[in-house]
Amino acid sequence: MTASKKISVFILPFVLAACAAAFAAGVSSAADAPAVPAAAPKPPYTAIEAVTTIIDPHTQISDEGHILWEKCIICHRNVPDLKKEKSISDVTLRYANEMKDLCLGCHIDRKHPGTEGASVMMSAAEAPDHLVVPSQTVKQNLRLMLKSTPTIFPFDPKTGKVTCVTCHNPHEKGLQSGKAGWGAGSFKRLRAEGDDICQYCHRK
Ligand code: HEC
Ligand code: HEC
Ligand code: HEC
Ligand code: HEC
Repeated sequence: MTASKKISVFILPFVLAACAAAFAAGVSSAADAPAVPAAAPKPPYTAIEAVTTIIDPHTQISDEGHILWEKCIICHRNVPDLKKEKSISDVTLRYANEMKDLCLGCHIDRKHPGTEGASVMMSAAEAPDHLVVPSQTVKQNLRLMLKSTPTIFPFDPKTGKVTCVTCHNPHEKGLQSGKAGWGAGSFKRLRAEGDDICQYCHRK
């Protein structure tokens, strides 16, 4: 993590406090002074820069190689013990209803994969709903694939459904060793780490 990123993490609470104060002031004076607010000055950074520097939860290791434990609790309810919490069934995550909600706080809900980026044989005009309980065929294909590749494709332990982290590794490369770390640094964080991910569950 660069110095500027560190600073933005530290100033965030102050910015939020300032916004809260400004909001409170605005409410109390709204009745007597319905003035049109002046346009806010343009910030010296773009929206995407703000998001990636302040709240990118997937950056979990500093430039100096230290684990950024405070990042864990963006998604986890506790700071996980890397030695004791070994799988999706061991962790307690921050979502109320469905596991995908953990990701949809920041990412848009777009049905995929199955259209763009997919191999020609598997692509369709409209992507199917992938967040379902997989058929026996899919489960069997996956079991076979996982015998020969050192990765994991965890389903939601409560519902048995495919979920976002079945295909995407939410962690930074280097945080976890072994199978759980597979794919963390690859294209779109895909757990197939460069292999054709569709083949893990669909055989042609
Ligand atoms: C963007 C959300 C997110 C962040 C941030 C995050 N995790 Fe996770 N973590 C998950 C999810 C979802 C799972 C369950 C799926 C899985 O197995 O990867 C998980 C699982 C784990 C597991 C169980 C092993 C495994 O991968 O199955 C460990 C250990 C873990 N996380 C450690 C950490 C640590 C340490 C941090 C902070 C440095 C962290 N996580 C930050 C989402 C996150
Ligand atoms: C606090 C906000 C936040 C949460 C929660 C979050 N992400 Fe992200 N995610 C980001 C940011 C910021 C980036 C980096 C954007 C970039 O650089 O393209 C990112 C990048 C990604 C990417 C790579 C996108 C690309 O185009 O390469 C994937 C995949 C991803 N996140 C999946 C997940 C999954 C799965 C979860 C849920 C476990 C999750 N994210 C939770 C903010 C979030
Ligand atoms: C069955 C596997 C699978 C599941 C489940 C899945 N994804 Fe993806 N995701 C992919 C693949 C493959 C790509 C790259 C090709 C594409 O965009 O279709 C991708 C791309 C992305 C990207 C990059 C976006 C971009 O525009 O390039 C993000 C972010 C992402 N997924 C987040 C999520 C979230 C959030 C969920 C859960 C709601 C999710 N994914 C569920 C396989 C999956
Ligand atoms: C984690 C396993 C998994 C991965 C990886 C995966 N799928 Fe699927 N896919 C499913 C499940 C589950 C269904 C629902 C039907 C079923 O259970 O057989 C499905 C259904 C589909 C369907 C609807 C037609 C059918 O076969 O039922 C298409 C098309 C599809 N997937 C395309 C893709 C493409 C393209 C990729 C790679 C980018 C991909 N899938 C990766 C699990 C997966």
